[in-house]
Amino acid sequence: MDKLVIQGGHRLSGAVQASGSKNSALPLMAATLLSNGGAVTLHRIPDLKDIRTFRKLLEYLGVEISDQANTLSISTSNIRCAHAPYELVKQMRASIYVLGPLLARFGHASVSLPGGCAFGPRPIDLHLMTMEKLGASVSIEKGFIEAQVRGKRLKGAQIDFPISSVGATGNALMASVLAEGITTINNAAVEPEIVTLCRFLNAMGADIRGIGTPSLEIEGVQQLNATEFTNIFDRIEAATLLTAGAITGSSITVTDADPSQLTSVLGKLEQTGCRVITDTRSITLQSPDVLSRTDVIANPYPLFPTDMQAQWIALMTQAQGVSHIIDKVYHERFNHIPELNRLGAHIEIKDNEATVYGPEKLTGTKVMSTDLRASACLVLAGLVAEGVTEVLRIYHLDRGYEHIEKKLSSLGAIVKRESYQEFI
Ligand code: EPZ
Repeated sequence: MDKLVIQGGHRLSGAVQASGSKNSALPLMAATLLSNGGAVTLHRIPDLKDIRTFRKLLEYLGVEISDQANTLSISTSNIRCAHAPYELVKQMRASIYVLGPLLARFGHASVSLPGGCAFGPRPIDLHLMTMEKLGASVSIEKGFIEAQVRGKRLKGAQIDFPISSVGATGNALMASVLAEGITTINNAAVEPEIVTLCRFLNAMGADIRGIGTPSLEIEGVQQLNATEFTNIFDRIEAATLLTAGAITGSSITVTDADPSQLTSVLGKLEQTGCRVITDTRSITLQSPDVLSRTDVIANPYPLFPTDMQAQWIALMTQAQGVSHIIDKVYHERFNHIPELNRLGAHIEIKDNEATVYGPEKLTGTKVMSTDLRASACLVLAGLVAEGVTEVLRIYHLDRGYEHIEKKLSSLGAIVKRESYQEFI
């Protein structure tokens, strides 16, 4: 098992490149199942544990994948089954993304229920509602979603989401592009990852209108064709790196990052007193001498992302004053707080609201990762804590950050990866 060993208190400087987006790469990879054959080429796919897990799932289905650096070449001509096994789905919830395309292409799918995760229940009722609306019969048998199209093809329908769901919107898109007739999706998620999925599906020959709005209209087509496509940058990784600059009182630049996808986070960083200078492909952050407390409420895009909530709490431990952080997307996404308090932070939780009393001096010690963004939060805290912080179980971190210790080291942080044994 690996840990990161961080010597805190070092200023950062310089520039670092953002990787491709994990949360966009996964639906793009799933959508290749809809191609009628031929090799789909996807560029800027990050080298991450979640991507490798999803690749294993696609290869289990019979998809042939080769890679060259961050480019995948994906051929779906020889898919042999529409069954996503528990052992793989359990490792990564986003495996549910194969449900829509398998149903659209084969008329049936058997996908293991993903189960919960570290920050509370992660229901999939909206995914199942979507498939039923499009004309599939859906049942849960022995821990599996068993879906079967009634008749020959899925049929276009009106899908009204009661809440904004990235995954359910993605599955609805991938199920409806080959359905017979028109599908409308109301209250669709508008995250950049969904916009990118729409662009990719249209590049393969789909007919999706209203891209980037909460009202999407999809006219089903007969087939989708292989194409070449470049993934977007990872806005959460970029925001995490910028926050590393802010928490260490540094000035850094993140390149290959589109600031228009981070307006909420950049606005909040400016509220802390940071200066943010942007052009179309890079973001520079200059830290103030003293960070000002800044409240955030995590909401669906384009508001402040829940995937930055933990990192923001780490930053607010160093801000002058009391900050309030509410997560309206995942009400239980606060496992990072006990570990931050072990570093010396003073944070209280009530329901889905954290109150951070700052600034507090943090002192390095061993801390335990519990989920992907919690581990990123602990790394940020380690960068500013006095002495050495050891962030354990960084297999969580490796799910969503490509070589983060190399990126932080290139900015001047003293951080290294070490393997270790855990006491039984
Ligand atoms: C995506 O998860 C991201 N994962 C998450 O990032 C991110 O936190 C989340 O969107 C919200 O932005 C990927 O893209 C792979 P949702 P997803 O469906 O699609 C509820 C990370 O750190 N809901 O938008 O699973 C749900 O409980 C990960 O990179 C239902 O009630 O999230 C939540 O409260 C963590 N029923 C809200 O909707 C459903 O059927 C939003 O979830 C589906 C969701």
